[in-house]
Amino acid sequence: MNEQVKAIVKSTAPLLKDRGEEITTAMYEHLFTNYPEAKALFKNASKDQYIKLANMVYAYAANIDKLENLQKGIEKVAQIHVDTKILPEHYPWVGESLLVAIKQVLGDAATDEVMDAWAQAYGFLSTVFIDKEHELYAQAKASDAPTPA
Ligand code: HEM
Repeated sequence: MNEQVKAIVKSTAPLLKDRGEEITTAMYEHLFTNYPEAKALFKNASKDQYIKLANMVYAYAANIDKLENLQKGIEKVAQIHVDTKILPEHYPWVGESLLVAIKQVLGDAATDEVMDAWAQAYGFLSTVFIDKEHELYAQAKASDAPTPA
C-alpha cells in the first residue's frame, strides 16, 4: 500500500462508519448467499460479533497510518479465529463480500480508485491475520505433539 492508497482508505472511514449497519447487513447477506459454507463457521457467533468484525474494518481504515494502535486487537481476534478454525482460504470470501457491500452502500462515492484502495487495504489486513493465525496454529500443533521420550 502506498501513501495515496492509505489516504484514500482513511478518507472513507467516517462515511463507512456512518453507514456501518447497512454495510454489515449487505456484507453478511453476500457472504452467506455466495459462500453458504461460511454459515457453519458463524454458528456460535452472536449478532454482536458480526458488528464487531465490521467495526474492526473501520477502525483499521481510520488507523491505517498508525497500525500499531490495532496490534493488540489483531492478536486477540486472531486467537478467536484460530479457536473457530478460520483458515486462509476463508479470507477472500469476506474480502469480496466487504467490497461488494462497500460499493453497494457508497454508490457514486465508490469510485474505481476508492474500490481499488480498499481491495489493497483488505488484502494487507488479511495477510496480517493469516500470518498471525499461521503462527498460532503452529504453536498449538507443537504443544499437542507427544513429548519425545
Ligand atoms: C480482515 C478480516 C477480518 C476481520 C477484521 C475480522 C474481525 C473479527 C472480529 C473483530 C471478531 C470479534 C472478536 C470478538 O469477539 O471480540 C471476529 C470474530 C469472528 N470472525 Fe473474523 N475477521 C476477519 C476475517 C474473518 C474471516 C475471513 C472469517 C471466516 C469466514 C471470520 C470469521 C469470524 C467468526 C466466525 C467470528 C466469531 C467467532 C465466535 O466467537 O464464534 N473472520 N472477527
